[in-house]
Amino acid sequence: MDQPEHAVAAVTHPDPYPYYAELVAKRPFQRDDTLGFWVAASAAAVTAVLTSELCRVRPVSEAVPKALVGTAAGDVFGRMVRMNDGAYHVRLKPSVSATVAMLDPGLVARHADAAAQTLVAELEPGIHPARIGDFAFRLPPYVVGALLGLAPDGLPAIAASAGDFVRGLAPGATADEVDRGAGAARALVQAVRTLPRFWQSYEATAALLGNTLLALARHAHVRELLARDAPALRAVVAEVARHDAPVQNTRRFVATAGGVAGQAMKEGDTVLVLLAAANRDPAVNDDPARFEPARRERRTFTFGFGPHACPGETLAVTIAAAGVARLLATGVDPERVAASYTYRPSANIRMPRFN
Ligand code: HEM
Repeated sequence: MDQPEHAVAAVTHPDPYPYYAELVAKRPFQRDDTLGFWVAASAAAVTAVLTSELCRVRPVSEAVPKALVGTAAGDVFGRMVRMNDGAYHVRLKPSVSATVAMLDPGLVARHADAAAQTLVAELEPGIHPARIGDFAFRLPPYVVGALLGLAPDGLPAIAASAGDFVRGLAPGATADEVDRGAGAARALVQAVRTLPRFWQSYEATAALLGNTLLALARHAHVRELLARDAPALRAVVAEVARHDAPVQNTRRFVATAGGVAGQAMKEGDTVLVLLAAANRDPAVNDDPARFEPARRERRTFTFGFGPHACPGETLAVTIAAAGVARLLATGVDPERVAASYTYRPSANIRMPRFN
């Protein structure tokens, strides 16, 4: 199989992992002149970049993407914990982390299972596998919406708005998508004042669910494990997050020139941080290509690291596991659905679209 052309193309490549392994071994942190970015691949380089005081989550000169400035979506973007640094981030991050940490795991699992049941009844993905994507996309906003106390009849509209909002933020969104995203942002803010903190549950969690179905299709030993030990599904989902990361990369922007992981960086440089490559660095995970749900001391970079690390990891694993459990119970056969799929176009999310 051909290798991906570069680290961004790797996200949707059928098997980017030999390429990532080569980067980790031979080019752990290098400038890629085709992309015009630095690319950090090894666990050490990824850790150094994500903890560097010189690096920011947004370019200094463009805190809000140009296409969104002056729109409701831009306003929400500017207030997101995920996309801010400095005093605003320092002030808000602890309350977001504490809110998510306070969620009762049993309650989350019950909401996730109830939402999965509702969506299975509505979409019948067991009969129509092409609707699994729709199921995966709607599940996270249904669960997060229910946890925020929204009434069940308001959840379909929230899920639709979350979809429009995320599509409008995507790099390369059309003018029409940006417009719809702005309308969705207004609707979301009105529905839940706290939602700006939560929208990111959407795409990555859907992708984690999709990649878990693929892992079940690819690994007979995992299907056998689940046949005798259904609760092992959580460990399977956690290993999917490491082995076939739904978020393959994130970016950093150098705010002040200086040394990062032994390289001299200029102000304005961009770093592509390959979380999915670092997950498979043999320096932090033994025999990293092996899919091993019982892996001890698993090191996963998929949820970030350092000051911007994701507070939603446990929530995401619970939602994805509940969704997969319901799909399996309703007769979805992973091997059958994985017989035909492509990856959705994206510069950082690896999510299969089943045909
Ligand atoms: C599979 C699902 C998920 C994945 C893979 C994921 C991944 C990530 C990653 C990589 C970051 C760090 C980005 C960076 O440093 O540049 C992040 C940040 C964040 N995530 Fe998640 N996430 C997921 C689900 C969720 C969920 C369910 C929530 C809801 C609570 C959430 C809330 C956040 C927030 C608020 C941040 C910003 C943290 C900060 O900047 O300090 N995520 N996520």
